[in-house]
Amino acid sequence: MDLLEQYFNSKIAAEEKIEAKDWMPEEYRKTLIRQISQHAHSEIVGMLPEGNWITRAPSLKRKSILLAKVQDEGGHGLYLYCAAETLGVSREQMIDDLLTGKAKYSSIFNYPAVTWADMGAIGWLVDGAAIMNQVMLCRTSYGPYARAMVRICKEESFHQRQGYDILLTLSKGTEIQRKMAQDAINRWWWPSLMMFGPSDAESTHSNQSMAWKIKRATNDELRQRFVDMSVPQVEILGLSLPDPKLKWNPERKHYDYGEINWDEFKNIIKGNGPCNKNRLAARNKAHDDGAWVREAATAYAYKKSSAAKSVA
Ligand SMILES: [Fe+2]
Ligand SMILES: [Fe+2]
Repeated sequence: MDLLEQYFNSKIAAEEKIEAKDWMPEEYRKTLIRQISQHAHSEIVGMLPEGNWITRAPSLKRKSILLAKVQDEGGHGLYLYCAAETLGVSREQMIDDLLTGKAKYSSIFNYPAVTWADMGAIGWLVDGAAIMNQVMLCRTSYGPYARAMVRICKEESFHQRQGYDILLTLSKGTEIQRKMAQDAINRWWWPSLMMFGPSDAESTHSNQSMAWKIKRATNDELRQRFVDMSVPQVEILGLSLPDPKLKWNPERKHYDYGEINWDEFKNIIKGNGPCNKNRLAARNKAHDDGAWVREAATAYAYKKSSAAKSVA
């Protein structure tokens, strides 16, 4: 091991942040580029299932809350693209990888949002699962990523509460509204558990990421925390989680839960989920429709810089 690597390791051991200009092992850089860009893509693609409901929100209040939430996700995406850029990858490259289907994003966004209650279930469960991951990332070893996560987490906790508030309102409503809320929870519960990724035994990147302190907890640890947090919350709603094996285990002091359908997860990652094609088509269309904005911005920047030069 050379001196640079020793120095890098000693910083990690001392809980010091690695900054953009610091030396880092190539694998550390690559892992972060993959993780941060996937995270950014997930924020951007994640705007689609909810964006679809902005025009159909049941009141002006709900519409403005949902609009703000979806805008936040767009902001998270841009923020994270900036963090990834500090590692030497270009924005164009990352966006191109997303649009051509080369890059991954969270598989959860390949499920459809079919009723208004889905806005509640997505906020409560999907943003809730995201927070579990992201609170840990506030202490990740790469400085620009850790700092981005601090702000993002504050907004995510608002997202989760607004989702829970939708479900709470529906749960106190008519029989049809209660059924709609339960149906949304039934459809989003298992995909939310999949958001933590494969079980520790199957996870390929986990060990190295833990050693580099990119991650601070394993997939299964985070998933367990999420299950333990969700059970009392669903009880307050007077609704249930769709898992007959869900049961408090007094020895482990955690809830036991049923087997996740990993075939479904793998199938979606391969591109065969209900909305994979739809999501990519929507992103490509948005990119194409925005071409004139990029051209205009480039022309404006050029005009300004040549005007500045002629004054000089
Ligand atoms: Fe977000
Ligand atoms: Fe969110």
